[in-house]
Amino acid sequence: MLSPLVVVIVWPRSAGPDVKSAAMRKQTLKSWRSTEHSLIGSMVLALLAAACTWFVLGPVIAGYLVAIVLLIGLLLASLIMMRVLTGARRQMEAAIEGRATAEQRAIEALRESEAQWKEVFEHNPVMYFMVDANGVVLSVNSFGAAQLGYVVDELRGQSVLKVFFEEDRDLVLKSVDVCLTNIGQTHSWEIRKVRKDGSALWVRENAKAVRQLDNRLIVLIACEDITERKEAENALRQSESYLAEAQRLSHTGSFGWRVATSEIVWSEETFRIFGYDKAPSVTLDKVAQRIHPDDRARAQQTIDRASRDGKDFNHEYRLLMPNGSVKYVHATAHAVIDASGDIEFVGAVTDVTASKRAEEKLHEAQAELAHVARVTALGELAASIAHEVNQPLTAVVANAAACLRWLNRETPNLEEARSTVESIIKDGDRAGDVIQRVRAMVSTTADQKVQLHVNEIINEVITLLQHELFSHGVSLRMELAPDLGSVLGDRIQLQQVVLNLVINGIEAMQPVMDRPRELVIRTVQAKDDQILVMVRDCGIGLAVENADRLYDAFFTTKSGGMGMGLSICRSIVESHGGRLSASGNVGPGATFQFSLPLYQEDDSL
Ligand SMILES: Nc1ncnc2c1ncn2[C@@H]1O[C@H](COP(=O)(O)OP(=O)(O)O)[C@@H](O)[C@H]1O
Ligand SMILES: [Mg+2]
Repeated sequence: MLSPLVVVIVWPRSAGPDVKSAAMRKQTLKSWRSTEHSLIGSMVLALLAAACTWFVLGPVIAGYLVAIVLLIGLLLASLIMMRVLTGARRQMEAAIEGRATAEQRAIEALRESEAQWKEVFEHNPVMYFMVDANGVVLSVNSFGAAQLGYVVDELRGQSVLKVFFEEDRDLVLKSVDVCLTNIGQTHSWEIRKVRKDGSALWVRENAKAVRQLDNRLIVLIACEDITERKEAENALRQSESYLAEAQRLSHTGSFGWRVATSEIVWSEETFRIFGYDKAPSVTLDKVAQRIHPDDRARAQQTIDRASRDGKDFNHEYRLLMPNGSVKYVHATAHAVIDASGDIEFVGAVTDVTASKRAEEKLHEAQAELAHVARVTALGELAASIAHEVNQPLTAVVANAAACLRWLNRETPNLEEARSTVESIIKDGDRAGDVIQRVRAMVSTTADQKVQLHVNEIINEVITLLQHELFSHGVSLRMELAPDLGSVLGDRIQLQQVVLNLVINGIEAMQPVMDRPRELVIRTVQAKDDQILVMVRDCGIGLAVENADRLYDAFFTTKSGGMGMGLSICRSIVESHGGRLSASGNVGPGATFQFSLPLYQEDDSL
């Protein structure tokens, strides 16, 4: 709306109404007076006529008495009339005088009000312009002129385009044109004005064209400074575009989820990740529709739990895109209470497909490396393994010979023969077991996590190492906790961990000559649902300076070492959700320990 102030800015004044009304008043009084004067004049003439008649006719006056009486009557009537007229004139004079005073007061009040409005117009912190149909400035308030760095006289008479940037002038002309073709209607627009010093000022202009008394069209414009708002808007727009760019680069979209109303709002990047067209709102159904069918139930569970408990959540699931491709996403959300006390989740969803793929590749490479290391370790254990196989085979041969002898007797001793055959079978199974285990460790099976018992794993590995321990003069003490819970793990991988740690222990005790070489393997079920496996030796112990590098790939202090054993152990243990650590013993030697989480029923979900 155009400010009412604008309406009063037409300062040039026409001949004052007070002057006009005084002239009219004088005119009226004058005509009254001339009426009176003519009455008096006609009375005097009537009297003169009567006197002349008397003087000329003398005594024969009696015949004219009637005429004389009429004259006197006329005279009296004129006198009365004159009196009435004088009274009326006085009243009128008084009335006119009263009206004049009232008019004078009104004029003074108007002047005062005009002066006040002018004061307001001049000092109101709004810029006002009055331009003619050609865009020439007819008037501008001093505040407005000052805001643009000018004094009023520098702008008056100039084209209004002077205070606009070259590139915006067309818009100004068009806008003024619209006002001129829609007289009396207010139009508004936002535009930059240019100050005398060249700096910019954002304004919102409200304008309307009005027709002046002389039929000239003028445009009245009130301009509100919106520079701050524009700057804030620009800053906001810029920060929004930075944010959108950052989201795009980091493949992270944001979302808001109002639980009570099921209202979900996504950022542009979230729409991109989910492969949907941008829309003002999203439904939970739409989200679920995109989730990979194998992950849908699990993701739905997390969402249901969050809407029930109103607690922060984060989960990972796959999306099955319309073209059949699969995306991995990680969503994390923080619960906040909004103004109406309802729960709202604010979160981020990241497309982690690339890192997942890289992780998979790394995992594959690690598995291959672990396989090579395993084969290498088994190669080093060849003598030991051969011994483990050889031993039962020798026993088989010996028992077979004995069996023959029992059978070749005159009276074959079938009882003894049966018992030796049973031993043969047992030894055969033993040799078969060893070969089976070696074959399993050499094979390249994919990651297969099953429920298993750590003590079993340790026993299986030790079977392969008996000879190795013996040949290195190491005595083994097993302190395996009975009733140990199970873990979820890959049998071969965990065997590899135990194998590496035991071999390292044996090697660390190699230089020990002055004390018995003893290796202790202990298992414990810790309170925090963890199963601990400890391998303690009394070897050379850990050098402090190497503490940080033990798990680095290719770090070795051995002349023929590969330096991969501990690095592989660590990645296997961590991929099982556990931790591998090493510490020096109070006495000689070192203890390597790893933990594995106890198997819980819902682990397999
Ligand atoms: N039980 C142990 N006692 C002392 N040092 C050890 C023990 N186990 C490992 N280390 C140190 O950690 C290094 C890395 O071990 P590992 O990764 O198995 O590679 P490698 O056995 O091929 O050297 C070893 O060279 C050794 O210095
Ligand atoms: Mg090693």
